Amino acid sequence: MSVLIFDSGVGGLSVLREARAVLTGHQFIYVGDDAGFPYGDWEEAPLLSRILSLFDTLMDHYNPDAVIVACNTASTLILPALRKQYDTPFIGIVPAIKPAAERTASGLISVLATPATVTRQHIQELIEEFGGDCSVNLIGATRLAGLAEDYMLGRPIDRAVLKEEITPCFIDTSQGKTDIITLGCTHYPFLINEMRKLAPWPVDWLDPAEAVARRAQQLLYQQIKPSDTPISPSQTNDLAVMSSGLQNDARERVFNSFGLVGRDKTITNKLKTISSTATT
Ligand code: DGL
Repeated sequence: MSVLIFDSGVGGLSVLREARAVLTGHQFIYVGDDAGFPYGDWEEAPLLSRILSLFDTLMDHYNPDAVIVACNTASTLILPALRKQYDTPFIGIVPAIKPAAERTASGLISVLATPATVTRQHIQELIEEFGGDCSVNLIGATRLAGLAEDYMLGRPIDRAVLKEEITPCFIDTSQGKTDIITLGCTHYPFLINEMRKLAPWPVDWLDPAEAVARRAQQLLYQQIKPSDTPISPSQTNDLAVMSSGLQNDARERVFNSFGLVGRDKTITNKLKTISSTATT
C-alpha cells in the first residue's frame, strides 16, 4: 500500500516522520511543489487550480491508497475539491485550535502560520467551532517557511528575522500572557528549538503532525483487504519528487536522511510542464 505526502517544499517531512512511526509496511511517496514555493504568497484561485492540476497527474501516475496533504496552506483551501474528485482518502493538516483551546490556562492562544492560511475562511470556522472563550491571535509569518527551508538545507539562518517573525505571537495583558502557540505550517516544527530559545517566555508549541499520522493510520487500516500483503521495510522504495526537477546535494542529503532514496524522472518531467504553465 502506498501513501502520498504532499507539500510545497520540505516542510511535509515533519509529517512524514510521524507517519513513519505509525504506518509500517507502506510505501511513501513524498511530493514537494518547490516550483510553487512559497504557497503562503499565492492567491486562492490560482493556487487551487495549480494543486488540482498537479493531483491530476499524481493520482493518475501513482494511484496511492491515501494522500496526506501535509501543508496547512493547501489543506485549508483544497481538501473539499480533492475529496469530491477522488475516492482515495485525503487527510489534511490544520492548526490545532481545539487542543490549544482545551489546554490553555490564560485563554490567550496564537496561531503561527503562513499569510495565506490565516486569511482562510476555514480557520475562522475552526475558531468559531472550537475556540470557546479563548482569544485567538492569528499571525501570518512571511519569512518563516523560507527560513525553515534554509535551515533544513544547511544554509545559515538569520535569528533576528526569526525572532521578529515569532514576536507578535506573544501577548502580555493584565489578564495574562499567551501560553500556547499552535504551529500552522508544516515547515515550522523544524525551527522549534530555535523558536524556544528566542521566545520571550516559555509557551507550549503544538504540532498537529502526530494526530494527522494517526488519522491516516485509522483510514488506511479500514481499507486493508485480506489479499493485501504489507511491504517489509527492506523492500520499500520510498520516493521523493520535486516539481521543479532541480536536484542539489543539500536536498539529496535531507531526502536520504528521511529514507526517501528513490527518485522518479518520468513524473518530474510531467510536473515541470504543469509548473511552467501556472503562475501566482
Ligand atoms: N508547509 C506549508 C504549510 O504547512 C507552507 C509553506 C509555504 O508557504 O509554501 O502551510
